[in-house]
Amino acid sequence: MFGLIDHVGVAVKDLDAAIQLYETTLGMPLVHRETVEEQGVEAVLLDVGPCHVELLRPLGEKTPVGKFLKRKGPGIHHVAYRVDDIEAVLAELKARDVELIDAEPRTGIRGSRVAFLHPRATDGVLTEIVEPAEDH
Ligand code: CO
Repeated sequence: MFGLIDHVGVAVKDLDAAIQLYETTLGMPLVHRETVEEQGVEAVLLDVGPCHVELLRPLGEKTPVGKFLKRKGPGIHHVAYRVDDIEAVLAELKARDVELIDAEPRTGIRGSRVAFLHPRATDGVLTEIVEPAEDH
Protein backbone atom coordinates (compact mmCIF):
# COMPACT_ATOMS: atom_id res chain seq x y z
CA MET A 1 0.00 0.00 0.00
CA PHE A 2 2.71 2.45 0.99
CA GLY A 3 5.26 3.61 -1.60
CA LEU A 4 7.83 5.32 0.57
CA ILE A 5 8.11 7.72 3.45
CA ASP A 6 6.99 10.98 1.87
CA HIS A 7 7.89 13.19 4.79
CA VAL A 8 8.44 13.50 8.48
CA GLY A 9 6.38 16.30 10.01
CA VAL A 10 8.17 18.36 12.66
CA ALA A 11 6.32 20.77 14.95
CA VAL A 12 8.24 23.98 15.57
CA LYS A 13 7.63 27.17 17.54
CA ASP A 14 9.84 29.43 15.46
CA LEU A 15 9.61 28.63 11.75
CA ASP A 16 12.40 30.98 10.67
CA ALA A 17 14.80 29.51 13.22
CA ALA A 18 13.86 26.00 12.07
CA ILE A 19 14.45 26.98 8.43
CA GLN A 20 17.81 28.37 9.43
CA LEU A 21 18.69 25.01 10.96
CA TYR A 22 17.36 22.70 8.24
CA GLU A 23 18.17 24.78 5.17
CA THR A 24 21.34 26.60 6.12
CA THR A 25 23.00 24.40 8.72
CA LEU A 26 21.82 20.98 7.50
CA GLY A 27 21.80 21.94 3.82
CA MET A 28 18.34 20.75 2.78
CA PRO A 29 16.86 22.72 -0.14
CA LEU A 30 13.69 24.57 0.79
CA VAL A 31 11.22 23.77 -1.99
CA HIS A 32 7.86 25.01 -0.77
CA ARG A 33 6.23 27.27 1.81
CA GLU A 34 2.51 27.51 2.34
CA THR A 35 -0.16 28.36 4.86
CA VAL A 36 -2.60 25.44 5.00
CA GLU A 37 -5.60 27.00 6.74
CA GLU A 38 -7.49 23.71 6.74
CA GLN A 39 -4.80 22.18 8.95
CA GLY A 40 -4.08 25.33 10.94
CA VAL A 41 -0.41 25.48 10.01
CA GLU A 42 2.20 27.38 8.12
CA ALA A 43 4.28 24.63 6.54
CA VAL A 44 7.61 24.35 4.77
CA LEU A 45 8.92 21.45 2.71
CA LEU A 46 12.62 20.72 2.40
CA ASP A 47 14.01 18.08 0.06
CA VAL A 48 15.84 15.02 1.31
CA GLY A 49 16.36 12.91 -1.79
CA PRO A 50 12.87 11.89 -2.95
CA CYS A 51 11.47 12.60 0.54
CA HIS A 52 10.88 15.68 2.64
CA VAL A 53 11.01 17.21 6.03
CA GLU A 54 7.81 19.17 6.68
CA LEU A 55 8.21 21.93 9.24
CA LEU A 56 4.93 22.93 10.87
CA ARG A 57 4.22 26.13 12.74
CA PRO A 58 0.72 26.32 14.24
CA LEU A 59 -1.50 29.26 13.31
CA GLY A 60 -2.94 29.26 16.82
CA GLU A 61 -2.89 27.49 20.19
CA LYS A 62 -6.20 25.75 19.53
CA THR A 63 -5.04 24.07 16.31
CA PRO A 64 -3.92 20.41 16.42
CA VAL A 65 -0.24 21.34 16.08
CA GLY A 66 -0.68 24.17 18.60
CA LYS A 67 -2.07 21.70 21.14
CA PHE A 68 0.71 19.24 20.34
CA LEU A 69 3.38 21.91 20.97
CA LYS A 70 1.80 22.88 24.27
CA ARG A 71 1.60 19.24 25.39
CA LYS A 72 4.90 17.87 24.14
CA GLY A 73 7.04 20.76 22.93
CA PRO A 74 8.78 20.89 19.54
CA GLY A 75 9.64 17.62 17.84
CA ILE A 76 8.44 14.91 15.48
CA HIS A 77 4.72 15.31 14.94
CA HIS A 78 3.85 12.73 12.29
CA VAL A 79 5.16 10.36 9.64
CA ALA A 80 3.66 10.47 6.15
CA TYR A 81 3.66 7.62 3.65
CA ARG A 82 3.23 8.24 -0.06
CA VAL A 83 0.46 6.37 -1.87
CA ASP A 84 -0.65 6.28 -5.51
CA ASP A 85 -4.38 6.09 -4.90
CA ILE A 86 -5.54 7.52 -1.59
CA GLU A 87 -9.16 6.38 -1.97
CA ALA A 88 -8.05 2.79 -2.55
CA VAL A 89 -5.69 2.87 0.45
CA LEU A 90 -8.37 4.40 2.71
CA ALA A 91 -10.83 1.70 1.62
CA GLU A 92 -8.24 -0.99 2.35
CA LEU A 93 -7.44 0.50 5.77
CA LYS A 94 -11.18 0.59 6.62
CA ALA A 95 -11.49 -3.03 5.50
CA ARG A 96 -8.65 -3.87 7.88
CA ASP A 97 -10.36 -2.03 10.77
CA VAL A 98 -7.66 0.59 11.11
CA GLU A 99 -9.04 3.56 13.03
CA LEU A 100 -8.93 6.74 10.93
CA ILE A 101 -9.11 10.43 11.75
CA ASP A 102 -10.06 11.19 8.15
CA ALA A 103 -12.48 8.83 6.45
CA GLU A 104 -12.17 10.96 3.31
CA PRO A 105 -9.10 12.67 1.81
CA ARG A 106 -8.58 16.35 2.51
CA THR A 107 -6.36 19.00 1.03
CA GLY A 108 -2.72 18.91 2.10
CA ILE A 109 0.35 20.92 1.28
CA ARG A 110 1.27 21.68 -2.36
CA GLY A 111 -2.04 20.45 -3.78
CA SER A 112 -1.69 16.98 -2.32
CA ARG A 113 -4.53 14.92 -0.93
CA VAL A 114 -3.97 13.56 2.55
CA ALA A 115 -5.63 11.61 5.34
CA PHE A 116 -4.58 10.83 8.89
CA LEU A 117 -4.75 7.51 10.74
CA HIS A 118 -5.56 7.69 14.42
CA PRO A 119 -2.49 7.35 16.66
CA ARG A 120 -4.51 4.87 18.76
CA ALA A 121 -4.30 2.53 15.78
CA THR A 122 -0.57 2.98 15.20
CA ASP A 123 1.15 2.67 18.58
CA GLY A 124 1.04 6.40 19.22
CA VAL A 125 2.52 7.48 15.89
CA LEU A 126 0.33 10.00 14.12
CA THR A 127 0.40 8.62 10.58
CA GLU A 128 -0.50 10.43 7.38
CA ILE A 129 -0.99 9.07 3.91
CA VAL A 130 -0.37 11.44 1.05
CA GLU A 131 -1.15 11.31 -2.64
CA PRO A 132 0.97 14.05 -4.21
CA ALA A 133 -0.46 16.39 -6.83
CA GLU A 134 0.19 15.26 -10.42
CA ASP A 135 3.11 17.60 -10.97
CA HIS A 136 4.99 16.51 -7.83
CO1 CO B 1 2.40 16.02 6.72
